[in-house]
Amino acid sequence: MWTEIGAAVVVVVVAIRLLYRWQSGRCYSLATLHGKTVIVTGASAGIGKETARDLASRGARVIMACRNMEKAQKVATEIRVSTNYAGDVEVRQLDTSCLASVRAFANRILKEEKQLHILINNAGIVGPPTREMTEDGLEVTMATNHYGHFLLTNMLLGLLKKSAPSRIITLSSDSHDYVNKLNPDSLNFERDYYSSMTAYGQSKLCNILFTLELSQKLEGTGVTANSVHPGWVDTEIFYKGKITWFMWVCGRIFILIGKDARLGAQPTIHVAVSDEVEGVTGKYFVDCKVTKTTELAQSKKLARQLWEASEVDVRLQPEEKHY
Ligand SMILES: NC(=O)c1ccc[n+]([C@@H]2O[C@H](COP(=O)([O-])OP(=O)(O)OC[C@H]3O[C@@H](n4cnc5c(N)ncnc54)[C@H](OP(=O)(O)O)[C@@H]3O)[C@@H](O)[C@H]2O)c1
Repeated sequence: MWTEIGAAVVVVVVAIRLLYRWQSGRCYSLATLHGKTVIVTGASAGIGKETARDLASRGARVIMACRNMEKAQKVATEIRVSTNYAGDVEVRQLDTSCLASVRAFANRILKEEKQLHILINNAGIVGPPTREMTEDGLEVTMATNHYGHFLLTNMLLGLLKKSAPSRIITLSSDSHDYVNKLNPDSLNFERDYYSSMTAYGQSKLCNILFTLELSQKLEGTGVTANSVHPGWVDTEIFYKGKITWFMWVCGRIFILIGKDARLGAQPTIHVAVSDEVEGVTGKYFVDCKVTKTTELAQSKKLARQLWEASEVDVRLQPEEKHY
C-alpha cells in the first residue's frame, strides 16, 4: 500500500510542478539593449543573476551591484562566457543594508556613468528569526529590502531622468498580501510585533508603496517605476543566513513545485525590456501581467507617508533628491 501512496504523491507533485511552470509568464520580447546601461542589485545569485545574464545576452552594459565581490566576480565570468561576451558585464560593491555602502556605490555611478536606462532593485533577504538592527539603526530586513533601494533609487533619479526613456523595476512578493497594517512611525518594528514573516511581508509591501509614490513623482519625466512578484522560485534565499523553520519548509516546497531562477527572472525581464510595457508605470506585475494588489498596497496616502518616513530614516540630503 505504501508504494501506491508514494507513487500517488510523486505523480501529484510532478503534476503541480509541470502545471505551475507551464502557466508561468514568460518574456517573449526580442528587444536588444546595445548602448543601454543596466544596474541589477543582488545579481550574484538567483533571480538577479538570471536577469543579469538575460540582459547581457541582449547586448547591455550590465553593472552587477553585489555585496560579496568574490562570489559575484565568479558569476560575472560565468555570465560573460555563457552569453558569448554579448554585453559588457561589470561587478561593483553594494551592500543594500548599509547606507554608507549605498551612498558610495551611487556616488561612483554618478561620477563614472554617463547614462542609466534600467535600474533593477532585486537584492533581498528573508527576515532573521529575531529582530536585528543595522549600524544605521534600521531593522535588517527593512534595510536590505526597502531602505537601501529607496536611497539608491533617489540618488540615481537624476541620471535615470537624463537617460529617459528609462525604467525602474523593484522586486516585491505576494507575501505583501499577508500584511494588514503598516505603521509609518514604527517601520523598524519599534512598537510593533516582529517576526521573520511580518518583516519580510512588510518590506515587500514597502517595495510596492515606494513604487506607487515614485511613479507619481516621476510623471511626465519618461522614467517609469513598476514592481514585480517573480512567483515561487527555488533560490538560495531560503537557505542562507539565519532563517526560521517556516522559511526552510517554504524552500523545500519550492524545490518540489517552484520555478527555477531562469523562469523566475522572466517577469523582471519582461517589465525591463518589453515594448508593450513602454510608458506603463506605477503597476504591480505577476507572471508578466499587471495585477491588482491589496487595498493597503494601493493606498496613495500610505505611500506618501512611507516616502516621508523613509526620507527621514535614510537621512536623505537635499543634494540626493532629484524628483
Ligand atoms: N525566491 C522566491 O520565491 C521569491 C518570491 C518573491 C519575491 N522574491 C524576491 O526576489 C528577489 C531576489 O531573490 P532570490 O529568490 O533570487 O534570492 P537569492 O537567490 O538569495 O538572491 C538574492 C540576491 O540578493 C543579494 N543580497 C542579499 N542581501 C544583500 C545586501 N545586503 N546587499 C546586496 N545584495 C544582497 C544576494 O547576495 P549574496 O549572493 O551575497 O547572498 C543575492 O545576490 C528578492 O527581492 C526576493 O524578495 C523571491
